[in-house]
Amino acid sequence: MTDIIDYERPRPGEQPPFLHPDYRSTVKRAPLHPLLRLPHTLSEVTGPGFADGWAGAEKADLTRQHQGEPIGERMIVAGRVLDEGGRAVPGTLVELWQANAAGRYRHDADQHAAPLDPNFTGTGHVVTNERGEYRFVTIVPGAYPWRNSDNAWRAQHLHFSVFGPAFATRLITQMFFPGDPLIDYDPIFHGVPDPAARERLISSYDPALSVAEWALGYRFDIVLRGRAATPTGL
Ligand SMILES: [Fe+2]
Repeated sequence: MTDIIDYERPRPGEQPPFLHPDYRSTVKRAPLHPLLRLPHTLSEVTGPGFADGWAGAEKADLTRQHQGEPIGERMIVAGRVLDEGGRAVPGTLVELWQANAAGRYRHDADQHAAPLDPNFTGTGHVVTNERGEYRFVTIVPGAYPWRNSDNAWRAQHLHFSVFGPAFATRLITQMFFPGDPLIDYDPIFHGVPDPAARERLISSYDPALSVAEWALGYRFDIVLRGRAATPTGL
């Protein structure tokens, strides 16, 4: 029998609570009964494997999935996926989804009065390399209105899902942009009680990642569990 490595549990204040009334959807979906603590058994500490090359190049470049280029400010987002000990997580699936430059999702549920872009789907995925690195080319998403409260606008953000080595490490989160004035008013961002943990949701502008006359670069490392864990953002 293999020894089971028990993953560290989230630290108080570093993950958003299930119930955060400023974020209205949580009132409907928060559990009404106390949670059961599940032990980490083999089914929690193992997960799917992703062979090299599983994601094609077009999946990592959201600006090349159609005949023409999407409208918007081209950007590169890159970073490393790290485990609770700061070690690289290679060969893991990183999924990205986002609104277009006008702040509209290509989804039936999004009917807000902004144009769809025929050259932008807004989804991609990559598998991290041996150094735990991922990289996407995309366009900067627009802010969009939502009906959480009067005249509410979501800060610009990218949605990420990262599997990590096990089902217990899977993380779904959102990446924000430095200097966005809407962050101060975003209840999903502020749903993370600990200010230092919350800041880990904001990417950093990286001039070394930018490509001259072509694209801006934003760096966003994703840490699965532990002291520096990236908070959940649903
Ligand atoms: Fe969103």
